[in-house]
Amino acid sequence: MAFAPSRSFIAPSILSSDICDLAKHLPVLEREAEWLHLDVMDGCFVPNISFGFPIIKSIRPKTRMFFDAHLMIVNPEWYFERFAEAGSGAITFHLEAVEKPLEALKQIHSLGKRAGISLNDETPVESVLPFLQEADLVLVMGAPAGFGGQSLQPKNIEKIRTLRKKIDSKKLSTLVSVDCGVNGETGKAVIEAGVDILVMGSAVFKSEKPVEELRKLQQGLGL
Ligand code: DX5
Ligand code: ZN
Repeated sequence: MAFAPSRSFIAPSILSSDICDLAKHLPVLEREAEWLHLDVMDGCFVPNISFGFPIIKSIRPKTRMFFDAHLMIVNPEWYFERFAEAGSGAITFHLEAVEKPLEALKQIHSLGKRAGISLNDETPVESVLPFLQEADLVLVMGAPAGFGGQSLQPKNIEKIRTLRKKIDSKKLSTLVSVDCGVNGETGKAVIEAGVDILVMGSAVFKSEKPVEELRKLQQGLGL
């Protein structure tokens, strides 16, 4: 898809899915969603461990969806190249995990990939503003990174509002994404605040029928 969507959209996150079922779901899911969100956790940046390159590589040939890798890891710069090789279209690192965010963004661009920067729950929105011009997307965490199934905190909706205003006033094309606690209800509030991408894990994959659930969520949110 074009990197500048004309409307907000849902990016399903496979963290809450049964990985073994994905080969079955992806060919149908890709008719409904163009992006797939992939949560990489190292048990160090966040107190949880998910998956890494081998899983991303094995999913890659199963779908044409655009892969958005969300790296919740320390020293993410050491691994950008390998996430690019594994098939990620966008690579998003945490602002809190790097010393030189601008260099990290440039490093991702030099690999020919879209570069994202994520703000954890406690990080003030002001800390990302100097990097808006270089970032293709800013991922706002709705709750502390590391686990699915948490509640979206209202303070993080305000971060989206601030980002939207800054991005629009500077006429930038940076996308704003939100992750953690996004569902059919909170989705309305984040869309109203100006978000472009709604990452949804449990809202989609805790359902027996994730594709039908995704369709319902899109309809309910007018997407
Ligand atoms: C958690 C991950 C999320 C996770 C969201 O830190 O970054 O992408 O899948 O899960 P839900 O949508 O259940 O809050
Ligand atoms: Zn995520």
